[in-house]
Amino acid sequence: MLGSSIEEIKNRLDIVEVIGSYIKLSKAGINFRAPCPFHSEKKPSFFVSPVRQIWHCFGCNSGGDIFKFVMQIEGVEFGDALRLLAQKAGVELKKQSPEYVQWKSNRERLYEICELACRFFEKQLEEGTTGKEAKQYLLGRGITEESLKKWRVGYAPDVWQGLSDFLSSRGYKKEEIEKAGLALSSSKGSFYDRFRSRIIFPIFDLNSQVVGFGGRIFKSDDPAKYVNSPSTLLYDKSRILYGLNKAKVEIRKKNYCILVEGYVDLILVSQAGSENVVATSGTALTPYQLQIIKRYSDNLYTAFDMDVGGDSATKRGIDLAQAQGFNVKVITMPEGKDPADVISQNPQDWEGLVKSVKSILEFYFETTFSRFSSGTADGKREISKILLPVIKRIPNKIEQSHWLQELSKKISIREDVITEELKKINITNLPNNFIIEDMESKVPVSVKTRKELLEERIASLAIKSPQDSLCLITEDCTPFFGQKIQTVLADLKNKILPQDQEFFNYLSLKAEVEEEGIDCEKEIKTCLREISNLDTRKQLDGLSQDIKKAEDEKDPARVSSLIQKFKELTSKLVNI
Ligand code: CTP
Ligand code: MN
Repeated sequence: MLGSSIEEIKNRLDIVEVIGSYIKLSKAGINFRAPCPFHSEKKPSFFVSPVRQIWHCFGCNSGGDIFKFVMQIEGVEFGDALRLLAQKAGVELKKQSPEYVQWKSNRERLYEICELACRFFEKQLEEGTTGKEAKQYLLGRGITEESLKKWRVGYAPDVWQGLSDFLSSRGYKKEEIEKAGLALSSSKGSFYDRFRSRIIFPIFDLNSQVVGFGGRIFKSDDPAKYVNSPSTLLYDKSRILYGLNKAKVEIRKKNYCILVEGYVDLILVSQAGSENVVATSGTALTPYQLQIIKRYSDNLYTAFDMDVGGDSATKRGIDLAQAQGFNVKVITMPEGKDPADVISQNPQDWEGLVKSVKSILEFYFETTFSRFSSGTADGKREISKILLPVIKRIPNKIEQSHWLQELSKKISIREDVITEELKKINITNLPNNFIIEDMESKVPVSVKTRKELLEERIASLAIKSPQDSLCLITEDCTPFFGQKIQTVLADLKNKILPQDQEFFNYLSLKAEVEEEGIDCEKEIKTCLREISNLDTRKQLDGLSQDIKKAEDEKDPARVSSLIQKFKELTSKLVNI
């Protein structure tokens, strides 16, 4: 049953489209390729085969079908990947069937609760007395009716159990409502809504499903301006970027991503025509978020107030982006204003601000030089204190050298002196290694032995041109091969058995990805020789251990007999 749904989903969806909706793919022969989204790399070794409907990264060795891809990139379990792709494919998973039961996990109930809560809040903004006032307030700030609908903005009334009563009446248990982050229970046993008397911004995952909420104060004397969903099974604020669900296509198209702080800014920026915008929720940009943005573009434009001298969370996030190789640019606003202020006042101004975007280095230089005098010793020291770490973080040496020269000119200090000072700057406390370690721990890189790699190469070459190759791989070399390769080679002579299909697909993709015009026969011979050498070298290693031992034991007869053996074996090593 489950099998048939899986097959149907695979038949209806094209792997290139599914994966292409997450990362930029470019054509490479009959396949597509991209830098792998699962590990850090510069040269793209991630391939997608439309013919075989599989993907594989030859860098970190992860691969599989569309389900595996969605599980890995969304960080979800199989059941959730199944549900997502079923929805995309328009395949209905029958409610009562065993497969439905199988994937309807706790998470699924939470998705339902969040969606229902979102509708409840939306309705309150339209119909509730204070809700309507909140709506007027938002319209007054320049957010259009259309944008309110698009972002599903809502209102949480000023009552203790509005939403939780509603959800209970729909059959959800208190514990579930609490797990969704929508209610709290006190030690005295009372149970109450988390969001009260607040404008509600629902937070979406990449597939536009509601997973959390941000609530902005409205007509209440609560000191907290914002109340946000806590971490739940669905919502992890360090991984979600507000607005990315709607921005992803535009970011790829325009090839840059605008970053703002907060919901109101995002909605207005998007409304003003920059739909390639995402927001953090007043927190530092995390390595995860950066990695996600990188799937779509390497160009990041910030649009918030940035204190160059300070050590804010925001600034650290930007430092991290720079260190991660993002090309960071800064959209500067008139003094003391945020994007929302600018757009509320005059939406046309926004376009101009985006057009006059500055590189982050230009921005740092301008701001720093406007703050300190470049003529005094104190000024020079302060200027370099701010600028040197920024320069140090530039990954490209040419670019780095350019800005060093610039600094040298502007503070009239010799470049070699500045270079000396630059060496002292320590930026290792930046968590820029974290991203790689962390991504890798999520997707373990499986390391293959040299022998396995050689075997796989032989098998994939054999797949590429079976006629020439199969006669080369004779009975007497197969004992060297591992079981998996032996089976595939045997299958090649007759018919690929279903249980070997997956491995065969992987090897075929590997063969296709190989550069064109190689001499298969010659390559196979080389690989075979190298495998045989690997085996000989292993024996030689063992022998030299034995020789050393015999020497230690002062046994000259044994030593010379072992040396004789060693010589014989050495002559078996073939030149490659
Ligand atoms: N924020 C938060 N908690 C706070 C203050 C802010 O989570 N106590 C987050 C929110 O995501 C908010 C963002 O930081 O959207 C930016 O904060 P701010 O500029 O103060 O709020 P705005 O959303 O811009 O609201 P407004 O313009 O209406 O003041
Ligand atoms: Mn604001």
